[in-house]
Amino acid sequence: MLGSLILLWTSFCILFVLFRIQRPKNFPPGPQPIPIFGNLLQLNLGKLVRDLKKLSERYGKVYSIYLGRKPAVVLNGLQAMKEALVTQSVEFAGRPKGLMINHLLQNKGNATDPQTLFHKATFNIICTVLVGTRFKHEDEFLQLNIRCIRETTKTINGPWAMKAFQNMNMIRKSLADQVSQHKESRVPGEPRDLTDCYLDEMEKRGDDGSSFSENQLVFYLLDLFFAGTDTTSNTLLTAFLYLMTHPDVQERCQKEIDKVLGEKMQVSFVDRHRMPYTQAVIHEVQRVADTVPLAAFHATTKDTRLMGYDIPKGTIIIPNLSSVLSEETQWKFPHEFNPSNFLNDEGEFVKPEAFMPFSAGSRVCLGEGLARMELFLILVTLLRRFKFIWPEDAGVPDYTPVFGLTHSPKHYRLGVRLRGSGDLGP
Ligand code: HEM
Repeated sequence: MLGSLILLWTSFCILFVLFRIQRPKNFPPGPQPIPIFGNLLQLNLGKLVRDLKKLSERYGKVYSIYLGRKPAVVLNGLQAMKEALVTQSVEFAGRPKGLMINHLLQNKGNATDPQTLFHKATFNIICTVLVGTRFKHEDEFLQLNIRCIRETTKTINGPWAMKAFQNMNMIRKSLADQVSQHKESRVPGEPRDLTDCYLDEMEKRGDDGSSFSENQLVFYLLDLFFAGTDTTSNTLLTAFLYLMTHPDVQERCQKEIDKVLGEKMQVSFVDRHRMPYTQAVIHEVQRVADTVPLAAFHATTKDTRLMGYDIPKGTIIIPNLSSVLSEETQWKFPHEFNPSNFLNDEGEFVKPEAFMPFSAGSRVCLGEGLARMELFLILVTLLRRFKFIWPEDAGVPDYTPVFGLTHSPKHYRLGVRLRGSGDLGP
């Protein structure tokens, strides 16, 4: 018996020494990792942003954690973010290899909730750009895609990915069908959408050994569908949550919109220059929405240095954008919803350097221009026509976001009234 215990203990010690994780020399500090799991067991994946903030208070603006045996450096605050993503843009522009997606949470909604509504709207916009098609809201293809996107983005990077991969595979197949249909109906040199443009370019290049291929096109489309739907939709959901619960802010936007647009039929993106308050509100919504809190993970492309630490090539980099969007030294009102964060004393719109919901540097969000247009045009159009009201029976609003790949607000109902008329819901 004693012999077995000693054998067990010795084996445990040998395994512990074999799998022990040691930080490289002059690597950023961080919590002690345990063999095999690294720091994963010390982090609550559902409250990752909160846990990373706590670690920053203890270890500083640049610290390290282990995702299993893989080292990752977490960047916090404007200074570290700028130094890495902007000043050393090339060194920090890689993407980690071998990370997968972990299914965490599922949301269920019904036909009338604003969640589904905004997802359908943003999905149709990206569809028009990529494959030149809009779908009816009850269309099966649209509903399937939205379900897949929402399920998948309620996940985070990690080693358990089956559900997410099944979803992506389903969408990949439907996109491959779209590409086949485009090949049959296209007129070379007269592109209708991004897919046609890509096929034109592919034809022009022939066999010049470039990376253009049909397979690659399907992956680009998949990437853009995922990146472009949930992000904008969750930002819109956050916008209406705050507008409903801050009626004074909503009314001030509506007054400005009415004054600037007057009798004009439709709003256009250039009108934003004459709407400083509305602009400030949209930016403040993006700041508090904190839609992609940890950006997409980066990786170092070569051995490099950051704020006195040595970081080897291939290290995972986690840009904690959340830490910049509420950094106390950067904002007038870091912890409250207040459009004054984007207004100067003259009431003009100003954009502080720490506003980086789209990240920064050479890996900055590729859809930033489209997203900003969508947010402005959708919000102004709806605010012009409707008044949004927090339902009387909805209790106290809960602003705590649900964490996945993107932050989304908790489920809520939207009270809508035609401006100057009776109630339309919720
Ligand atoms: C409010 C809406 C959006 C937000 C907050 C947002 C935010 C972000 C962030 C933080 C990143 C990671 C950047 C990094 O790795 O440092 C990103 C990447 C990306 N976004 Fe967006 N995004 C939004 C909308 C869109 C839209 C509409 C599209 C599609 C047209 C899009 C396409 C992409 C793509 C393709 C990438 C990956 C770029 C790369 O790997 O270099 N995003 N986005």
